[in-house]
Amino acid sequence: MIGAFVGIFEAQFSQCFWAHEEAALGLWTDCGSSLQVALLDMNKTEAESLMQTLTKQYGQERLLFLHCDVEQEEQVKAAFQKTMDTFGGIHILCNNAGILNESTWEKMISVNLVGVIRATYLVLEHMNKLKGGQGGVIVNTASLAGIGPLVSCPVYTASKHGVVGFTRAMSAASALSGYGVRVNCLCPGFVQTGLFSNIPARLGPFSHLKDGTQLLVEKFGIVNMSQVVEAFFELVTDETKDGAALLVFQQERKYMPAVSVTD
Ligand SMILES: NC(=O)c1ccc[n+]([C@@H]2O[C@H](COP(=O)([O-])OP(=O)(O)OC[C@H]3O[C@@H](n4cnc5c(N)ncnc54)[C@H](O)[C@@H]3O)[C@@H](O)[C@H]2O)c1
Repeated sequence: MIGAFVGIFEAQFSQCFWAHEEAALGLWTDCGSSLQVALLDMNKTEAESLMQTLTKQYGQERLLFLHCDVEQEEQVKAAFQKTMDTFGGIHILCNNAGILNESTWEKMISVNLVGVIRATYLVLEHMNKLKGGQGGVIVNTASLAGIGPLVSCPVYTASKHGVVGFTRAMSAASALSGYGVRVNCLCPGFVQTGLFSNIPARLGPFSHLKDGTQLLVEKFGIVNMSQVVEAFFELVTDETKDGAALLVFQQERKYMPAVSVTD
């Protein structure tokens, strides 16, 4: 799991992550009897405190923290290799690292979109059945902004549309090539995390449009982190889901169909 220490997944990790262990392990024949999780993140301080709590609860042998910046190819490569060496395989990748800052828009594309592509290509080296892997599932965290435009955040919108487009095309490419790897994406509405705090400052040249964002928050509501984690596991464990973009709102979740360009 990349980008795991603060925000959407942190609070839920100890509460409901392991509730899905059995269903996740049932997907592959070469898995052991317990879920093992490598947490890759660039935030060392948060990582150390969360790891202390988690290892007390679940045991050191099931968890691994690896300092990793998704902008750095060698760090991502080394982190996957360390995960392979420690746990013996990788079956699920969650590409969750993301930032929101319209002022540093090139960095945002680099983390939110290029980071997802980089980690996907690197993990396929281990998952791809044509390369000796056991297959697997990749879940990319996109956003509501990956389905429709957030007018106050044009580049965040572009990065998340990119994630949705990459997910759909990569899923089809993987299926047609026989990789044995499903690729899906999560599109949560608004979630109360660090990324969602201090919004006007994150909008850069569009901070004057902050009220429009607030109206959308009022319209769609705030999604509970647990709803996002439940949706994540639906995409992991439902083997019919491949190339899916799952929109997660407070009141409902729904699959967003892609427009076909082949018919
Ligand atoms: N909060 C929301 O309203 C919301 C809504 C939809 C989608 N999302 C997406 O969910 C994902 C998680 O966001 P969040 O709200 O939990 O934000 P957050 O800022 O609370 O957490 C993001 C995590 O990504 C890590 N990260 C950032 N840059 C990184 C890098 N270069 N390399 C490795 N790790 C890095 C951070 O250290 C942090 O642990 C993001 O992709 C975000 O775009 C968030």
